[in-house]
Amino acid sequence: MIRNEEIEKVIDESQQGSTMTLEKNEGNQRKLYIESYGCQMNFSDSEIVASILAKEGFNTTQQLEEADLVLVNTCSIREKAELTVRKRLEKFNAVKKINPGMKVGVLGCMAERLKSKFLEEEKIVDMVVGPDAYKDLPNLIQEIDEGRNAVNVILSKDETYGDVAPVRLNSNGVTAFVSITRGCDNMCTFCVVPFTRGRERSRNPQSILEEVNDLWAKGFKEITLLGQNVDSYLWYGGGLKKDFEKATEMQKATSVNFAKLLEMVAQEQPKMRIRFSTSNPQDMTLDVIETMAKYTNICNYIHLPVQSGSNRILKAMNRLHTREEYFELIDNIRTIIPDCAISQDMIAGFPTETEEDHQDTLSLMEYVKYDFGFMFAYSERPGTLAARKLEDDIPEETKKRRLREIIDLQQKHGLYRTQQHVGKVEEVLIEGLSKKSDAHWMGRNSQNTVVVFPKEQYKVGDFVNVKINECTSATLIGEAVGYSDNN
Ligand code: SAH
Ligand code: F3S
Repeated sequence: MIRNEEIEKVIDESQQGSTMTLEKNEGNQRKLYIESYGCQMNFSDSEIVASILAKEGFNTTQQLEEADLVLVNTCSIREKAELTVRKRLEKFNAVKKINPGMKVGVLGCMAERLKSKFLEEEKIVDMVVGPDAYKDLPNLIQEIDEGRNAVNVILSKDETYGDVAPVRLNSNGVTAFVSITRGCDNMCTFCVVPFTRGRERSRNPQSILEEVNDLWAKGFKEITLLGQNVDSYLWYGGGLKKDFEKATEMQKATSVNFAKLLEMVAQEQPKMRIRFSTSNPQDMTLDVIETMAKYTNICNYIHLPVQSGSNRILKAMNRLHTREEYFELIDNIRTIIPDCAISQDMIAGFPTETEEDHQDTLSLMEYVKYDFGFMFAYSERPGTLAARKLEDDIPEETKKRRLREIIDLQQKHGLYRTQQHVGKVEEVLIEGLSKKSDAHWMGRNSQNTVVVFPKEQYKVGDFVNVKINECTSATLIGEAVGYSDNN
């Protein structure tokens, strides 16, 4: 998660590429270099890809120059994210001159959006693979090995990867992502995701529980259930969410919704910390909040993007709730879980946004006082309803100024929220070394706020009670007072 402190980075978040390494398997001969951009789902998908390719004889490497196969898992959410990938392709092109045998594949949302056009636009690219086609990678790689370009951008009606055990890449051994749904049916007018990731499907709860049990057995202590819209999770034996109507009475009676899934996971591993992302206000139900309150191992934190505080803009965005309904949801969360942290996504400068609409966004923020947030200037995406129907009419300087005001207010609220923790003793799961000091651990409390404290005898993966002494707008600083009961 990116914190207030790093808000500048948040604006450019999809530019932050990250490479990954697999543990060495001496039997494997070929070298895979994989780089991921964008959302958590992409990072999670790269772990699936690494798992599929490990069986094909690939070891990962962090040395681009020695790679036989370079894969870049791409993001299309904003134009900037795509430009970053184009820039990386230029770099790969330069490396290919030294290592002519190197093949380059593009995965993820840009692959799905541009399809075979990618091969024409970027001569360096040998292979284009959409987010639902990774199981076909062995065949596609054979194609490019034989000198042909390869493309598979077919979207699926099934969850697709439930049976692939992801290889945990660059893992801290403590926290992991578990994917529970793929695709999105919401059709927010600004968003390219429904086009690049297809219709919504849910994963079999049994395979989710198996993955969670396996992670626990391997020493992991915290999982994040991942989906574009987790509250919309619905398992009724497979198939698209939109086809639920056609399910048999039996399938309907035994279906599992998100509240039920959360409960199943919480009961299955009572000491495993559970988080989830992302919640959509229109789909989040009271029984999810009540389930969170019922189980201490479900963290008190909800990422609840709203995008705008103006009813008129919310409607134009096809966000199917009003400002008043959002407040009602926030009030319910605060009543049922008083110390629940809430974070936002916000878009500044959506087409037709007036100064008054922008003020509505600021006043909504003032009401909620989010713990942290991810804030963006509107970026028109080809093919979306907003791009087809609305002119991108807010000048760049106005977008930037409104974004700045949103970020500044968020920073103020972040500090207000972190200050509420000072003086308290809170349970922290240690994830690793503090970025700033080798003598300190970094972990998170239930609310997902980063906590830093002196190492003493504790180790990574321990649950520790920490007395919070000070804070910045994004970090809590304290000292350990002992192990928590959760160890
Ligand atoms: N439901 C998804 C949302 C993915 S997009 C999830 O799992 O998080 C993440 C965020 O990017 C959105 O909430 C929105 O704030 C922002 N975003 C999406 N499309 C955008 C666009 N065209 N311009 C600017 N920001 C956008
Ligand atoms: Fe995008 Fe809206 Fe779905 S932001 S991912 S269409 S919930």
